[in-house]
Amino acid sequence: MSTIELEGRKAKYITSGDEPSSGGQGDVYKATDRKTGEICAIKKFVKSAKGAKTCRREIEFLHLFSHASIIRCLDHDTAYTFVALEWVEGGTLNEQHGLTAFTHREVETMVLDVLEALQYVHSHGVIHHDVKPANIMVATRADDNLTIKLIDFGFATRGPHPKRPAGTPRYAAPEIFAYQISSEAWSGKIDVWALGLIALELLYGLPENPQATGNRLPFQADDAYAKGWHGAIQTQLKHMLKFYVLSSTIPELLVELFSMLEVDPKLRFSARKARMHLHRDIELENLLPMGMDHQAESIFEDMMEWNGN
Ligand SMILES: Nc1ncnc2c1ncn2[C@@H]1O[C@H](COP(=O)(O)OP(=O)(O)OP(=O)(O)O)[C@@H](O)[C@H]1O
Ligand SMILES: [Mg+2]
Repeated sequence: MSTIELEGRKAKYITSGDEPSSGGQGDVYKATDRKTGEICAIKKFVKSAKGAKTCRREIEFLHLFSHASIIRCLDHDTAYTFVALEWVEGGTLNEQHGLTAFTHREVETMVLDVLEALQYVHSHGVIHHDVKPANIMVATRADDNLTIKLIDFGFATRGPHPKRPAGTPRYAAPEIFAYQISSEAWSGKIDVWALGLIALELLYGLPENPQATGNRLPFQADDAYAKGWHGAIQTQLKHMLKFYVLSSTIPELLVELFSMLEVDPKLRFSARKARMHLHRDIELENLLPMGMDHQAESIFEDMMEWNGN
């Protein structure tokens, strides 16, 4: 393997001419492998020591995995300037949602698939650290169903957890903010939080966050500020639950979100547990034994009474 060449007579890959997608680590091109004709995505990293380090990390993790919902690495160069990945046609979760808003069932399928991928990743001792809509790609979407690929292991870690927060603050779990104060280690449950937040965002929207700058929240946020944001998310969940008060069935995904978006990581579901719990819509009277916080439980009790149960 050699340094990537995207143009010219000896090029191993030829770009499609489409504008590359730009991420924080570099650019992603649609390209064709000249020899095999295979279409792939070339992720070209910024040329720097940091870029090479990120590229190495991404290769290391992707080679560890073999899973239908995790992007496959096809090639890389010895100078660590690029990786060639299987091409995903459907774009990111946000792009697909922008084309046609996802149905409840589609979001549920997406959550189940990502949970399965996360369970697999976590079973290898790895935390993804940057689960967000731009890092979940839609491979296929038809008949109310979709398949996904988890991408971007540029912030992934294995072993001792990192010394400082990394990833995207908007989707960062409360314990990452709390780390500034408590220094308590976090686990793969931070990925579960991020996925819960994505589902909440796609289905019901997220609360306004006046202090967020664009799509970003500062990691340096003080404790009160982080608590305000995470409290607003809990309130949003409870609003949604009340919205279903007139119905005798509640989407189980909504109930599940209480456990995925539990602020205390000790009480939050792991990817494995969340996956085990998530089934199709269930009857109201079967909901109470499921993991949910006290306030949500009392809302349920009110609803049961209201429904004459
Ligand atoms: N395999 C792929 N097939 C098609 N498009 C892809 C593929 N991988 C990445 N992309 C596109 O490129 C974008 C950036 O990719 P990726 O997240 O891997 O890069 P990044 O620089 O690490 O991003 P960031 O740091 O901003 O999260 C994705 O959001 C997606 O739009
Ligand atoms: Mg990314």
